[in-house]
Amino acid sequence: MAKDFMRLLDISKEELRETINLAHKYREDRTLNSNHLSGKTIGLIFLKNSTRTRVSFETGVYQLGGNPMYMDQNGLQVGRGESFEDTAKVLSRYLDGIVIRGHKHGDIKAFADSCSISVINALTDTFHPCQLLADIQLIDNLKGRLEGVKVAFMGDCASNMALSWIYAAHMTGMELRLGGPEDFMPPKEFLESIGNPDNVKVCPDAKEAAEGVDFIYTDVWISMGFEEEAAERSKAFLPYQVNQGLLNVAASDVKVMHCLPAYREKEITAEVLEGKHSVVWDQAENRLHAQKAIMTLKF
Ligand code: CP
Ligand code: NVA
Repeated sequence: MAKDFMRLLDISKEELRETINLAHKYREDRTLNSNHLSGKTIGLIFLKNSTRTRVSFETGVYQLGGNPMYMDQNGLQVGRGESFEDTAKVLSRYLDGIVIRGHKHGDIKAFADSCSISVINALTDTFHPCQLLADIQLIDNLKGRLEGVKVAFMGDCASNMALSWIYAAHMTGMELRLGGPEDFMPPKEFLESIGNPDNVKVCPDAKEAAEGVDFIYTDVWISMGFEEEAAERSKAFLPYQVNQGLLNVAASDVKVMHCLPAYREKEITAEVLEGKHSVVWDQAENRLHAQKAIMTLKF
C-alpha cells in the first residue's frame, strides 16, 4: 500500500475493497481493533472549516486507541508563512500519522511528500477521497454491489467531490452521469488522464442525467474558497437542484445522497433532504467507519 492517501486512485481496486469490507465491520462493532493505534499520536491539521471530517477522525483515532491532536491555521506557524515542507519534516519527528485538510491540492501533496509518515487527505480544493470511502460503503451496503449501479452527480461537476466521484466510478464500474452546466464540467485532461472511461457521461440536461438512476448525489454550489463566485454559481446551478421533480424521473427506489453541509432550497430542497429517499445521515455516519478503516490500513 502506498504511504499516503491523497486521492482515491492512490489505493488499488483490491485495497479499496479491503477498506470497504473493514468499514462494514467497524459499522457492526465500534470496539473492533481498539488497540490498533495504542501509543500513537495522529495529527489532525485543518486549514479549512469542518464538522464531519474533524469529529469523525478525532473520534475514530480515539476508538482505535490513539491520541488525536487537532491543529488549525491559527495555531500553526504555517499561518505565519512557515513552509508546508518544513512543517512536514518537523511533525514527522513527533507524530505517527497525519490527516490534513487544506486548500491547493499541490501544497498538500508537497506536504505529504515531505512527511516520512503516512498522510491522509481530509479534503483539498481538488479531491475529497475520505468522503468517497463513506459513500461507496453506503452504496455497497444498500445495493450489495457497486458495478453497474447508476449514479447522477448534480451541480458543480468540476468540484473536489465530482472529481473524486469520477475516480470512484473508474475504479468500481459504477455508471456516473455528471448533471451540471457545461462551464462547470471536469477539465478534458482530467478525464483523459484515466482514459475517458465509458461509464462516466457528461449530461448538461438535468432530467436526462437523473433518468432511471439508483442514486442522486449533490454537493454545495459554493465550495469553500469559491465564495466570490456565489452569485454566478447560484444562477448556473439552479436547473440542477435536487427536488421532487428530479426524483420523479429517477428509479422509483432512488436514494438521495449529499456529502453535507446542505443548504436547503439551494442545491437540494428541504422536502427531499428530509424525505423518505434521503440516506444522508447514514452517509455521514459512515465517515467514522470508513476513516477508521483507512487509518487501520495506513497508520
Ligand atoms: N462532508 C464533509 O467533509 O463535511 P465537513 O466539511 O463538515 O467535514
Ligand atoms: N465541495 C465542498 C465539499 C464540502 C464537504 C467544499 O469543498 O466546500
